[in-house]
Amino acid sequence: MPPFLQTLVLVLLLTGCSLGLEAPFHYEDILPVLPHQISWPALNSLHNAVDLLPEFVGAVSSTSNISSWKGACFSENQAWLELTKPAGNGTGGGILYIQTSKAHSWTCMDLYVYATPFRVTWDYYFLARTHTLTINQWQEGELEYVKQKGVSIFLMKAGMLGTLVALWDVLPIFSNTGWGQSSNIAFLERHMGATFTKRTPPYVANISVNDIHSGDFLVLSKIRGRWGGFETLEKWVTGAYAGHTAVCLRDEKGKLWVGESGHENDKGEELIALLPWEDWWSLQLKDGANPQIALLPLHPEMRSKFNQTTALAYARQMTGKSYGYHNMIFSWIDTSTGNYPPPLDANLVASVITVWTRLQPAYASNMWNEALNKRLGTQGLDLPSIMWEANERGIPFGQLLAIPEQDDWVYSDGKSTSCVAFVLEMYKEAGLFGTLSNVIQVTEFTIRDAYMLKFFEDEMSRLPAWCNSNDDPPLPYCQILGDYRLDLPEFNSIEPYPRMDERCPSLPPNYYRPAHC
Ligand SMILES: *[C@@H]1O[C@H](CO)[C@@H](O)[C@H](O)[C@H]1NC(C)=O
Ligand SMILES: *[C@@H]1O[C@H](CO)[C@@H](O)[C@H](O)[C@H]1NC(C)=O
Ligand SMILES: *[C@@H]1O[C@H](CO)[C@@H](O)[C@H](O)[C@H]1NC(C)=O
Ligand SMILES: *[C@@H]1O[C@H](CO)[C@@H](O)[C@H](O)[C@H]1NC(C)=O
Repeated sequence: MPPFLQTLVLVLLLTGCSLGLEAPFHYEDILPVLPHQISWPALNSLHNAVDLLPEFVGAVSSTSNISSWKGACFSENQAWLELTKPAGNGTGGGILYIQTSKAHSWTCMDLYVYATPFRVTWDYYFLARTHTLTINQWQEGELEYVKQKGVSIFLMKAGMLGTLVALWDVLPIFSNTGWGQSSNIAFLERHMGATFTKRTPPYVANISVNDIHSGDFLVLSKIRGRWGGFETLEKWVTGAYAGHTAVCLRDEKGKLWVGESGHENDKGEELIALLPWEDWWSLQLKDGANPQIALLPLHPEMRSKFNQTTALAYARQMTGKSYGYHNMIFSWIDTSTGNYPPPLDANLVASVITVWTRLQPAYASNMWNEALNKRLGTQGLDLPSIMWEANERGIPFGQLLAIPEQDDWVYSDGKSTSCVAFVLEMYKEAGLFGTLSNVIQVTEFTIRDAYMLKFFEDEMSRLPAWCNSNDDPPLPYCQILGDYRLDLPEFNSIEPYPRMDERCPSLPPNYYRPAHC
């Protein structure tokens, strides 16, 4: 677009004028070609948040076409899917055809997102013709899903093009190219300012189990595969240098166990589990996600406070419950704008929830909706209705997301917890928060918040002899596995205080944390 036209459009948008019918283009047609920084705020101000949600068009499979739908630009569209023969022993791929016709103007475009639980991709169309999207190879399990449920198609507001382009740059996780260890490391170095220092072997500590006690905290950082990619995103948005946690616990007979929320069972479900130390440790040693693991022993004073009886009772009562997807996102979002590295924002979170609801209706996002309903004191509203209701009450969506989670909220699937909320709730039950228990919501803590708590051993001479045998300079805790040094900036630095971590921003690359947020 010529600069003068861009300027004209900008002026029109910024002065709030809308273009008359006689104009050769519609203001929304222009949004996609504007830079993301301009198009997205403009789009936000032109619509209320509900209008920005992706619109589900339908699901297309090899046996079910979508015969006709109306886009924002093209008023007649069709889609069908052809499966392609596998080359060699793979599962084969597919070609998605999208036929667009009858555009309402010559400048408009339609923007679509295509999703299965295994991939998200997108494309946009200016021309009336049959477009194709080629999927070279289905992932494990994806073909079965696509045969049964199809590929979901979402129509997006055209102004989101810039957002998708920006996301694509930032998040190779969406780009189907796999998410190898080197991309995770490169991403964290570039966007988070993390450093990855190679350790000297051996990479596995010669652990003497007798030196591990109830309440010792396990911090994990996975850097490969699907979990690696997921953790990388979580680290980036929260500023944590680890992506998963677990806790050590001895039973009445002194046997050592590991309590973990997010343990994957045979059926691929993420559950809360209590595993014998030996079983847990051997799973870590063969984990393809290449976990880097540190053991953070409790400070002797905290250890003497730790009530093993109540901790065990809590762990046993939670065993078998599902992983807490609902509180995961809320622990990260504490503020209405201070938690979203660009190009993320509250509306994009809403878009992700919308897509997710379609793909995994029985799963995560219903719980997010449930959590949002709790914030409004409503019941059973779906996301658009929630946004409507919030709008009616004058609460912007970003502010709704920032309302603190309450530890005693019970969801339809019980009191589930994320990995770190599980550990901290156990600490609470065990008495580590003392009299502050009633004024601390552990579901608001990220992993970073947890390892920053001043609960851990601060005297290096008291660490077990097998700790740090090869780390130079020595770490103030025990890294027990991994070929990269697991640094935890600001480890063991903050005494708990009332309403801790309920209003903390988290913006890369510094993740500045105001005192007492
Ligand atoms: C879907 O549409 C394509 C193209 O129009 C056609 O070749 C195919 O037979 C249709 N499939 C079904 C299941 O209707
Ligand atoms: C599939 O083929 C590749 C080489 O083309 C081979 O390395 C692999 O072992 C084969 N897998 C199976 C399950 O046969
Ligand atoms: C591991 O530690 C034990 C003592 O706890 C010792 O006997 C053994 O030799 C050590 N193994 C290695 C490989 O250092
Ligand atoms: C642990 O908590 C239980 C239940 O509140 C209590 O009866 C017990 O005395 C506590 N144990 C210690 C060592 O404080």
